[in-house]
Amino acid sequence: MVSSMPHLLLLLLIFTSLTHNYSLEDGILNDQPNGFFLPFESNLYVEITIGTPTRAFNLKLDSSTHLTFLECDPCDDDHQCSISDTTRRYDGKSSTTFSPISCNNSSLCPHLSPNATNHINATTTKTTLSLLCTPSDSCRYDVSAFSAGYLVSDTLQLTSSITDQENSLSIVRGFVFGCGTSNRVTPEDDGGGVDGRVSLTTHRFSLLSQLRVTRFSHCLWPSSAGSRNYIRLGSAAQYGGDMMLVPMLNTTETNSYSYHTALFGISLGEHRMRSNETSTIAVDIGTYYTRLEASLYEEVKEELMAQIGPTVAYEVNELMCFTTEAGLEIESLPKLTLHLQGFNYTISNKGLYLRDSPSSLCTALVRSTMEDEEQNVLGASGLVDYAVGYDTLDMILAFQQRDCLTDFVDGM
Ligand SMILES: *[C@@H]1O[C@H](CO)[C@@H](O)[C@H](O)[C@H]1NC(C)=O
Ligand SMILES: *[C@@H]1O[C@H](CO)[C@@H](O)[C@H](O)[C@H]1NC(C)=O
Ligand SMILES: *[C@@H]1O[C@H](CO)[C@@H](O)[C@H](O)[C@H]1NC(C)=O
Ligand SMILES: *[C@@H]1O[C@H](CO)[C@@H](O)[C@H](O)[C@H]1NC(C)=O
Ligand SMILES: *[C@@H]1O[C@H](CO)[C@@H](O)[C@H](O)[C@H]1NC(C)=O
Ligand SMILES: *[C@@H]1O[C@H](CO)[C@@H](O)[C@H](O)[C@H]1NC(C)=O
Ligand SMILES: *[C@@H]1O[C@H](CO)[C@@H](O)[C@H](O)[C@H]1NC(C)=O
Repeated sequence: MVSSMPHLLLLLLIFTSLTHNYSLEDGILNDQPNGFFLPFESNLYVEITIGTPTRAFNLKLDSSTHLTFLECDPCDDDHQCSISDTTRRYDGKSSTTFSPISCNNSSLCPHLSPNATNHINATTTKTTLSLLCTPSDSCRYDVSAFSAGYLVSDTLQLTSSITDQENSLSIVRGFVFGCGTSNRVTPEDDGGGVDGRVSLTTHRFSLLSQLRVTRFSHCLWPSSAGSRNYIRLGSAAQYGGDMMLVPMLNTTETNSYSYHTALFGISLGEHRMRSNETSTIAVDIGTYYTRLEASLYEEVKEELMAQIGPTVAYEVNELMCFTTEAGLEIESLPKLTLHLQGFNYTISNKGLYLRDSPSSLCTALVRSTMEDEEQNVLGASGLVDYAVGYDTLDMILAFQQRDCLTDFVDGM
């Protein structure tokens, strides 16, 4: 059976030539390697170590939340602790490099106001980040849907799993993140084993900003091909060359994802839907299944029934499943194409169709709900077999169809 979360999606971060001296506030010295590989655990989360002595945490990739956060010990008693195993919470008291972000003497909690009414809102959606200076001089944060607590800083380390890499360690001293004392997202929501989120937005508090990188890329292969998917950061990012460049849209108040682009239409096989409407689609590696706003989802469903059907035989975790003749090749199934600005993005059938049994398959598409703000989201399953580059400065996405497995092996 198809499970609700992907297994064996193992991603690697590659860092090369990150030589900047990072400072979010003052002259904090950074050690940046020429290149290294950081593995992601399954279910789209990465292991990051924080503190002195170091402790490892599993943080889910998130390109809509502006702050990296993890659950802190102690968290609030009133059922707001999401992790029951206290040893998996971050405890600043046991780290010699821990430092709370003080309001008085910090530009990180800006527009300080002794009357404590001054929220800084990065967006107005459910991933809104509010900062609030408290009378006790700490900087409260609130990511409305997920977590609240206070801003702290500590040493962050990203470590290579590939031991023969010469520079296997990237260190960010004074990495700013959220110490969550009231957490509304449970590890189960994220597929289990997750201690928090790592921010891949362009906000100053994101991992990208604190690493001082403005480009990253990934080239995912289907989980059935095994482990070792990865993200490349900085100069290692795949970008430009003969990749197709598609402009991103500015983030609006109604869109919580950082990377989105115009969607002019969508086709299944030769059949084009939505050819005269303009809508948008977010590209988010932190979302697994591709989400379509309800009306578009229904159109695609109709067309799937017409071309594969005749009916949706059953549903598994919201995925539409069809019975097929035994042994039907997934490559022979109709392809789903997103008509982007200047580029037709055809989702790989390896990511679009999941075999559930020899005579049935499911489509990796789910209906976007009001909770998701009814947005179209091209998720990780829809991103396989493409190199996808992000230039967060020039606001451009770059795409190129590739055999990512071969590409990675050759890239080594
Ligand atoms: C911060 O400011 C408050 C009020 O102005 C003051 O009571 C407190 O001592 C200050 N804390 C620091 C660390 O300067
Ligand atoms: C703020 O911190 C800096 C160093 O971190 C220090 O030099 C400065 O005196 C502090 N200012 C206040 C008002 O505490
Ligand atoms: C908060 O204090 C600032 C000055 O520190 C003042 O300008 C502002 O009007 C106050 N806001 C409220 C809601 O009282
Ligand atoms: C920020 O968000 C809070 C809570 O959602 C809201 O009360 C406040 O008015 C917002 N402030 C601004 C400046 O938009
Ligand atoms: C996006 O925002 C930037 C700066 O805020 C502006 O210069 C640019 O014109 C905007 N682009 C679009 C498509 O609105
Ligand atoms: C445009 O789309 C609307 C519905 O989305 C449809 O009613 C209309 O006929 C379409 N117009 C053209 C010219 O295709
Ligand atoms: C995208 O596909 C449509 C047909 O569905 C075609 O008319 C259009 O020229 C294609 N665009 C590009 C940039 O290839």
